[in-house]
Amino acid sequence: MGIWMFIFSVIFSLGLIFLQCYADLYEEKQALLEFIRNVPHSRSLNWDENSPICTNWTGVTCNSDHTKVLILRLPGVGLDGKIPPNTLSRLSNLQILSLRSNLLFGPFPSDLFSLINLNALYLQSNKFSGPLPTNFSSWEKLAILNLSYNHFNGSIPSSISNLTNLTTLDLSYNLLSGKIPDFNITSLNFLNLSYNNLSGNLPRDLLRFPSSAFSGNNISYNVAPSPAPSPAPSSGQPAKGSTGLGETALLGIILGGCALGFLVIAVLMIVCCSNKGAENGDNAVKPPKKVKSSKTPDSQTDNGRITFFEGSNLAFDLEDLLRASAEVLGKGMFATTYKAALEDSITVVVKRLKEVSVGKREFEQQMEIVGNIRHENVAPLRAYYYSKDEKLMVYDYFRHGSISAMLHGKLGENKTQLDWETRLRVVVGAARGIAHIHTENGGALVHGNIKASNIFLNSQQHACVSDLGLATIVIPLAPPVTRASGYRAPEVTDSRKASQASDVYSFGVLVLELLTGKSPLTEGVNLVKWVNSVVREEWTAEVFDVELLKYPNIEEQMVEMLQVGMACAARVPDQRPKMPEVVRMLEDIRRVNTENRPSSEGKSGGSTPTLSMPPPIEIGSTSALQ
Ligand SMILES: *[C@@H]1O[C@H](CO)[C@@H](O)[C@H](O)[C@H]1NC(C)=O
Ligand SMILES: *[C@@H]1O[C@H](CO)[C@@H](O)[C@H](O)[C@H]1NC(C)=O
Ligand SMILES: *[C@@H]1O[C@H](CO)[C@@H](O)[C@H](O)[C@H]1NC(C)=O
Ligand SMILES: *[C@@H]1O[C@H](CO)[C@@H](O)[C@H](O)[C@H]1NC(C)=O
Ligand SMILES: *[C@@H]1O[C@H](CO)[C@@H](O)[C@H](O)[C@H]1NC(C)=O
Ligand SMILES: *[C@@H]1O[C@H](CO)[C@@H](O)[C@H](O)[C@H]1NC(C)=O
Ligand SMILES: *[C@@H]1O[C@H](CO)[C@@H](O)[C@H](O)[C@H]1NC(C)=O
Ligand SMILES: *[C@@H]1O[C@H](CO)[C@@H](O)[C@H](O)[C@H]1NC(C)=O
Ligand SMILES: *[C@@H]1O[C@H](CO)[C@@H](O)[C@H](O)[C@H]1NC(C)=O
Ligand SMILES: *[C@@H]1O[C@H](CO)[C@@H](O)[C@H](O)[C@H]1NC(C)=O
Repeated sequence: MGIWMFIFSVIFSLGLIFLQCYADLYEEKQALLEFIRNVPHSRSLNWDENSPICTNWTGVTCNSDHTKVLILRLPGVGLDGKIPPNTLSRLSNLQILSLRSNLLFGPFPSDLFSLINLNALYLQSNKFSGPLPTNFSSWEKLAILNLSYNHFNGSIPSSISNLTNLTTLDLSYNLLSGKIPDFNITSLNFLNLSYNNLSGNLPRDLLRFPSSAFSGNNISYNVAPSPAPSPAPSSGQPAKGSTGLGETALLGIILGGCALGFLVIAVLMIVCCSNKGAENGDNAVKPPKKVKSSKTPDSQTDNGRITFFEGSNLAFDLEDLLRASAEVLGKGMFATTYKAALEDSITVVVKRLKEVSVGKREFEQQMEIVGNIRHENVAPLRAYYYSKDEKLMVYDYFRHGSISAMLHGKLGENKTQLDWETRLRVVVGAARGIAHIHTENGGALVHGNIKASNIFLNSQQHACVSDLGLATIVIPLAPPVTRASGYRAPEVTDSRKASQASDVYSFGVLVLELLTGKSPLTEGVNLVKWVNSVVREEWTAEVFDVELLKYPNIEEQMVEMLQVGMACAARVPDQRPKMPEVVRMLEDIRRVNTENRPSSEGKSGGSTPTLSMPPPIEIGSTSALQ
């Protein structure tokens, strides 16, 4: 009997917990849906009622066990309307709300005061108007308030000093008038009231801020005669009623009754949470360099808008990108590539294009073609931005780095990851990706820049081809002798003349690079010529990367792949095979590989180095390339 009671209580309380979690997120989902259905917006958001809010909804961030929505960030998505009351204010656990750089109008959304956990509120660069609320009181945790670039008028309410935890206050570029109250907030360390219509004397307590914080007003620096007695910092402010409280209390009582069951659940949840935490804990690295000091572009104009492609649940705007801490990943022929860490610990890759040779419309058309390609072997373009001074493309960040980095990285530290299986997978995947690209735009799209540093392994270990479609629209600036020129087909004198046949050539070079482990151009020696000469002298075995000689029974496949690579890198464009044909040949090789070695699916290879091939004898012949 006792055991049944126990089991029953465990099941019962489990059910209640799930109901409670589900109910909370249900509530938040409904609130968000109600919000978005009532605010017209130009970028479509993937807020699908049936998809999980914490993982699939653009701009929504939850806590690690997915029971609370903590952050909502919708910058620059073209929200154009009033914030409907009683929508966002129902996200009771919200800590950060950013609706920056939209077209929102109407009065200050006072119902957000019920969000008592709010830590940062970004409403800048919208069209809000009317007075600021007269009683700021319930945001005890609010640290950052940015209301700049709006049309707020009236005076600055003195109750703002009730925001006792405020560190940053930006009210610049509004229509605020009247005297500046002596808001005595000791924690405040950033203030900007510039470009309003404020007048009168500057309160003594604000003298600590630089004068640029007040420029564009009519303020006199005669220190105010005697500061008004400061309001006592509010404490014991009653928390705004939250509707879920009664249920929570009830739940608590019930759970108290079956403490044992609760213990089991708690353990389960801890295990669950700690797993999730570990999952989320990667790449929190903050690299030191800035893409650009933030010369704020006028985000009010449509010019500042980033175009996102379907399926992206990223949410950021130009300001985010320019402000993100960024690290240069590489400088290529067409672009400088940065790894950019955004505010919400999302990392993206930003390509900053050099000189574009086409107009805005043509550029956008090309981006539409490239951005709508969805294939497991093509790195998706997530977003792009075009203005007179700045052309940006945004991609996913791949943690493993490029194939080039793996192959030629410092000390070859990552080379061991490139076992034979992986190289085969990379070659087949890249070939499929390129073949797919060649079918786009009515069969007219050219990649134009195939090289090992543009091929990545994604999280599913698929090879992904990146950086496509730029050759025809960007003026290349790099000097001719770079590693990249080793990939260029002999007939291509100007990168804008790249063709599908020259893509095949570049792919051939990539294949040879993966087989030999050598750069396509080292000290002026061209890899294709070198491979041809070695093979002609029938020293074929010496062509291969020493690293590959560890793996048993693959020499036949290596030789076949060598033949594919050489066929692709044929001098005469007409003699090169077409990409679909290349895919077929490579898949045949891979099929043989998996049939021969069924046990070694995956990455076990190399533990039994039985050399069935003569090791390279004459080191001298290859030294030119080492
Ligand atoms: C959620 O997103 C993942 C990956 O983006 C996708 O595979 C999955 O189908 C989505 N789930 C729903 C219910 O839309
Ligand atoms: C202003 O404060 C009073 C008392 O603290 C409160 O009753 C009222 O609802 C507040 N007004 C707003 C708009 O929050
Ligand atoms: C105010 O900020 C301090 C330090 O930033 C923090 O310790 C404190 O908990 C905050 N107070 C509230 C009410 O959030
Ligand atoms: C507030 O927003 C404006 C406009 O986006 C920006 O220029 C300013 O730096 C922001 N203020 C702070 C303190 O971040
Ligand atoms: C603020 O602007 C509104 C119109 O947007 C106007 O009706 C109101 O009088 C203004 N208030 C002040 C104090 O200027
Ligand atoms: C700050 O809050 C307290 C308590 O709500 C209120 O009595 C006081 O008037 C507020 N201060 C200002 C300057 O509005
Ligand atoms: C600025 O304030 C003065 C009074 O202080 C007023 O006469 C003037 O109209 C205001 N200007 C704007 C643009 O609101
Ligand atoms: C305040 O904002 C203005 C306009 O963006 C800027 O020129 C000034 O440097 C800012 N001052 C401070 C202290 O941030
Ligand atoms: C600036 O304020 C002073 C008084 O404080 C006033 O005499 C003057 O007209 C104001 N100037 C402008 C441009 O509003
Ligand atoms: C500001 O407040 C602190 C304590 O909160 C007080 O000691 C100080 O005198 C106040 N300053 C002014 C100018 O009111």
